[in-house]
Amino acid sequence: MRATAKAHTNIALIKYWGKRNEELILPTNSSLSVTLDGFYTRTTVHFKNELQKDVFTLNDKVIKDIAYERVTNYLELFRNYANKQGLYAEVNSINKVPTAAGFASSASGFAALAAATAQALKLDLSEQELSKFTRQGSGSACRSIYGGFVEWQKGQANDGSDSYAIQIAPQDHWDIRVAAVVLTAKEKDVSSRVGMKRTVDTSVFYDGWLDSLPADLEAIKEGIVAKDFEKVGSIAEANCLKMHATTLGAVPPFTYWQDTTMTVMQTVQSLRKSGFPAYFTIDAGPNVKVLYLPKDEQEVLKKLRQTDGVTDVIVSKVGEGISYV
Ligand code: ADP
Ligand code: DP6
Repeated sequence: MRATAKAHTNIALIKYWGKRNEELILPTNSSLSVTLDGFYTRTTVHFKNELQKDVFTLNDKVIKDIAYERVTNYLELFRNYANKQGLYAEVNSINKVPTAAGFASSASGFAALAAATAQALKLDLSEQELSKFTRQGSGSACRSIYGGFVEWQKGQANDGSDSYAIQIAPQDHWDIRVAAVVLTAKEKDVSSRVGMKRTVDTSVFYDGWLDSLPADLEAIKEGIVAKDFEKVGSIAEANCLKMHATTLGAVPPFTYWQDTTMTVMQTVQSLRKSGFPAYFTIDAGPNVKVLYLPKDEQEVLKKLRQTDGVTDVIVSKVGEGISYV
């Protein structure tokens, strides 16, 4: 009872930022992402009768802290579904992505874990069912089941039965690039889970964020279908700024940005002024992702690498969905 799966991270162009149900991980808003080929997780799940509890190894280190609790609680969902209570697993995972630093390791991590677990237990799940399971590990992970451009439909049902991801356009629909601009690979102070809860509970700006989302989502989907880069980039950048603005209205207020985050934002704006369309987006961390077109790669990467505080720039193309090794 063993299987290995690989999943890529994704970067949200319309952000998921808030839950209506924390236990089932049901979002307050629909979101949309592009899957990235540059960052991924490979996870092997091996169920063994002789184990007394789950064992979780991440990047060759045995994990015993809260990350272990998250994994073992998550496996419990599958055990209950498959009627295999008391059957424990060795989970070995390798992140080809910095962990807990705003590069969405939780997205590739839980997508790979869900796929490997379902396969090891020989559950014959559709991609939609797998996306619903993955959502319960980490919300944004449910989008990593698919390659290309992916929407997580928030759904209405209280049991989460209609909250899952769907593919808007496949991997080969549109060749855009995403540069991950690394400022720091340190673990962040406020996790996305804690940050979004504080924002939903306390931010005076949260209602404004929610009100603006349906229009952003519809417009960006039109832009993706039409391959209108300026439209997609400008909506993504504005949506990211709105999400980050909500954290400043929280109690106590917080921000994921550093001074160098803003320096990279200025580089992107100056690229645009010189005629190179490039747009930024930022998740729950200081690092910046920059969207651009392949024809502009040389100039965009040169300017990003010259920016103060930038330690690395890692390029992704549009990535594929789950695969089994
Ligand atoms: P990130 O920006 O990296 O997604 P988060 O704080 O949202 O940061 O999530 C990081 C957490 O995701 C880790 O602390 C761990 O609990 C979990 N995680 C990361 N990688 C894996 C993995 N490969 N397998 C299982 N869980 C993982
Ligand atoms: C800013 O999916 O990590 O990256 O569901 O609590 O695990 P949990 O949160 P998570 O949050 C991602 C937030 C975001 C935006 C996004 O990816 O849509």
